[in-house]
This record gives sequence, structure tokens and C-alpha cells, in this order.
Amino acid sequence: MTHKSFWKELKKPIIGLAPMDGYSDSAFRRICKEINPEIVTVTEFTSADGLSFGAERLRKKLSFHPSEQPVFAQIFGKNTETFITATKLCEDMGFSGIDINMGCPSKRVVKSEHGVALRKKPDLAFKLIESVAQNTSLPVSVKTRLGLKNADDLTDFAIGAQNAGANMLCVHARTYAEPYNVPAQHNYLYDLKHHIDIPLIINGGITSYQDGMEKCQNCDGFYIGQASFGNPWTFSPHDAPKTIQEKLPIILKHSQYLIEDKGELVGTREIRKHLLQYVKGFYGAKQFRSQLVHVKCYQDIVKVFDDIIEHESSLKSASLSAISA
Ligand SMILES: Cc1cc2nc3c(=O)[nH]c(=O)nc-3n(C[C@H](O)[C@H](O)[C@H](O)COP(=O)(O)O)c2cc1C
Repeated sequence: MTHKSFWKELKKPIIGLAPMDGYSDSAFRRICKEINPEIVTVTEFTSADGLSFGAERLRKKLSFHPSEQPVFAQIFGKNTETFITATKLCEDMGFSGIDINMGCPSKRVVKSEHGVALRKKPDLAFKLIESVAQNTSLPVSVKTRLGLKNADDLTDFAIGAQNAGANMLCVHARTYAEPYNVPAQHNYLYDLKHHIDIPLIINGGITSYQDGMEKCQNCDGFYIGQASFGNPWTFSPHDAPKTIQEKLPIILKHSQYLIEDKGELVGTREIRKHLLQYVKGFYGAKQFRSQLVHVKCYQDIVKVFDDIIEHESSLKSASLSAISA
């Protein structure tokens, strides 16, 4: 059972898989943890309203494997009552803590005044944090962005969140106005760290374990998001495997976990985007892409990868004979 001081006591730097809807599900979290068992992971964002109204689909979406611990449930919303009900539910499910989403820029979420829209209403944001913090013995964290258009109110927001009972803050170093591919501005976070006592995790544009170690500076840790797509080895201090053959055991395990969790039909459909990411950068991948987006069962995946590996070794022998010629 975790307690409020969990984040303070956790070994630094804290390394984590950023919450990502459509990606950081149980199967992918398990895979990343197998690469580096010390990382923390967060679920995909889940509606507090939906959970409190008993949506079975959302409860299922939140389910996790015991090997994932410590794992944190991320919830979003704007209603204190539904936040409290959702928090209790996550507590009963055995989560190690609650993460409140105050950074999501998706149109649907912002239109409902959830996610990053709460930065326009800091008093409501603090009330939500306080309600959650006072109604659970679990640690409560908040994930947000620099701000809406700039970072002018970041320090005030962070101090307010801390005073409301947040035990950790993770800041994605881009504003709401900025897309995911512009450079992140971590300088604001190095400065923010001087103004708060709770741990501060940096996020945005971190490409690897080593990159995170360098960029973390005076902060308490880093979350990696998009750089983990098709590359869970990004969490390892060691070099990633170079060939598809070396990567295959993890690729197949990831596929198996997803199929176990979601069934063969949905699991196979959802693994396709990951498979494309796993072969990204592989010289011969182009001709296999259309096969990867059409896999319908586990055996299809095994078959396509057999072919890819055969192609990979024929490319290797061709280049070896070119060198020796
Ligand atoms: C496909 C996708 C889905 C995301 N879903 C969530 C989410 O559910 N909750 C959240 O707090 N952030 C979400 N994010 C934002 C990431 O957690 C992270 O802050 C962002 O990608 C920046 O980190 P990166 O540059 O390392 O990817 C998502 C990002 C992406 C690309």
C-alpha cells in the first residue's frame, strides 16, 4: 500500500512511461516494465464521470496486471463528486495512486472544460485536487502543461496544486497552443523546481534514458512518451537491440499480452500500429507494411515476422558478400 510520501521517497531520478491514450495500456506498460523494472507507469486517461456512472468499458480499460506496480490511474473531469467516486474505485482496484489530468488538449476534452481547460479555472482545478487528496490515502499527482499560451501562470498553478494536496507534479514542457512535435521548453521546469517542495517530473521531447538523465537536471525525474513507440528499450540504460530478429521476443510478447487482455480480434487490431512502429527504420520494412496492417490473428503476426527476419538475413548476407567481393 502506497502513502502520500510515495513520490518523495521513490528513488531518483524517477523514470516513467507517460500516459498516452491508445498506447499506454496494460500490455504496453508491462512490456516497458520488463525492459526496465524500475519505471513507473500511468494508465491512459479515463473519465471520472464515466467511471462514477459505472461504465464497465472504462473499468476494463483501467485494468492492470499485478507485475505493473507501482501503477497510477489517470482520471479527468471537472466534477468533485465524480472525481471522489472514481478515486474510491481506483483505490479498490489496487492502484498505487491517482493522477489527475490537467493537460489534455483534445478538442472533445477541452470543450467539456476538462484536461488543460482547467488551467483557465485554477480555483476549480485546486478544488478538484483537494477533494481527491482529502478522500484518499493514496498519493495524488497532477499532470499538466506549461500553460495555455505561455508559462506565465505555471509557478502560481504549481504552488496552488501543491497547497491543495498534490504530492507530485508532472509538467509536459509545451503549451496547449503547441503541437506534440515542437521542441519542449524544459527551462521553465528547472526554474519552477525552486518554487515547490513536491517532486517535479519533466516531460516532453525526451528521446531516451540517457537523454532523460541529461535533461532531468535539478528536477526529480522524467516521463518518456512518443519515443517509446515501437521502442520500449528507450527505458534501458543499455543499447537497444539492432535487428528485428533480436527485437522479436518483445514484439511477440507485446502481441500476446494485448491479445490476452482484449481478445484476438481487438488485440490484433490494436497491435498493428505498434508493429509498424517496431519495424520503423528497418531498411526492408516498406514491403511488409501492408501485411502488418492486415494481421488478423497471432499466427499472422508470427508469419509476417518470419518473412521479415528472412528478408533481414538475406540483406545481411548480400551486404557481407558485397564487402568481401
Ligand atoms: C497519442 C498520445 C496520447 C496521449 N494521451 C495522453 C493521456 O491520456 N493523458 C495525458 O496526460 N497525456 C497524454 N498524452 C501526452 C503525453 O503524456 C506526453 O505528455 C506528450 O506526448 C509529451 O511527451 P513526449 O514528447 O515524450 O511524447 C498523449 C500523447 C500522445 C502522443
